[in-house]
Amino acid sequence: MTEKHFIPTPYTNSLENGSFSWSSPSNIALVKYWGKKEHQIPENPSISFTLDNCKTTTNLTFLRKASHGGFSFEVFLDGEQKDDFKPKIETFFKRVEDYLPFLKDYHFKIETSNTFPHSSGIASSASGMSALALCLMSIEKLIIESDVTLSAAERSIDETYFTKKASFLARLGSGSACRSLEGDLVVWGKHDGIEGSSDLFGVKYPNDVHQNFKNYQDTILLVDKGEKQVSSTVGHNLMYGHPFAQERFKQADKNLSDMISILKEGDLDAFIALVESEALTLHAMMMTSMPYFILMKPNTLEIINKIWDYRKSSGSKICFTLDAGANVHVLYPEGEASQVLEFIQNELVAFCQKGQYINDKIGFGAKLL
Ligand code: DP6
Repeated sequence: MTEKHFIPTPYTNSLENGSFSWSSPSNIALVKYWGKKEHQIPENPSISFTLDNCKTTTNLTFLRKASHGGFSFEVFLDGEQKDDFKPKIETFFKRVEDYLPFLKDYHFKIETSNTFPHSSGIASSASGMSALALCLMSIEKLIIESDVTLSAAERSIDETYFTKKASFLARLGSGSACRSLEGDLVVWGKHDGIEGSSDLFGVKYPNDVHQNFKNYQDTILLVDKGEKQVSSTVGHNLMYGHPFAQERFKQADKNLSDMISILKEGDLDAFIALVESEALTLHAMMMTSMPYFILMKPNTLEIINKIWDYRKSSGSKICFTLDAGANVHVLYPEGEASQVLEFIQNELVAFCQKGQYINDKIGFGAKLL
């Protein structure tokens, strides 16, 4: 399958206006995407848990405009106009224009809100871009379904194609966003051991998953809620010419191969080792790029050490992962929830900014509202 698959059969658009709302969750990578080629193609495959509570709700209203002109849209976060979101959305519209030929027919009002606190340091690009991509797909579906010049077959868009194309579009907004549409585990990037996997979109993990991973918990400790010093996009670019890049891409591919058997066997010790090593490798890539940078904070390290001590003394299967920031995702099996929450309350909350954390767990993807 190539990009061409997502260019629609030319249609006559007679829709005047309307609106769609989708909610879409965030996700946390177990094997990380860090480094990309042109057109948002990842250097290595990645796999993530879809989250449940951390999500974005987007309402997209479209209104036919008089002249074709350029892109026309306004963005609101929690009811407040957000012009600083516009450049990212403009770039997204440019990237997806060939796949959504109706984009310049309308003026769009994008109204969005997140369930997690604003500027909590939790990336809203995955949930935000996937929710927006889904709203746009809903519009395209309606246009196609109401185009009487198309044949009955051309007018029907099946669910699989809808989700694939929405994920494909979301990827062009933000790479990790293509892993947010479905759950509970999603793979993005071609991998020989995972049928249907693609560099172009995320797919629901098709292989066997052991009971041990059902309802896995993720408590997100908010260590630093400030603006990141380095954006993910800049970080990805620093993988060009990075002295360890090629080895890292090979390692990620191998880690995903290992993850396939870990998920099947339910081997929690191997899961812990792989996931923590991925998190630290991601940050090691940041520390060894030129220019180099550190996104972990002293409290990130305090928490990691506390988790290691607790695991050693209690035999718990708790582990941590990190995304491109200072916050810590604490992962643990559902059966340990009450003990781990007690440990978090007693020992880790002290290292969180204003004592804040979010209890989340594996979720099942986006929803049309
Ligand atoms: C560290 O998806 O935010 O979270 O494609 O430039 O928008 P862009 O980057 P983004 O990168 C996420 C990187 C990561 C790892 C991951 O989610 O796999």
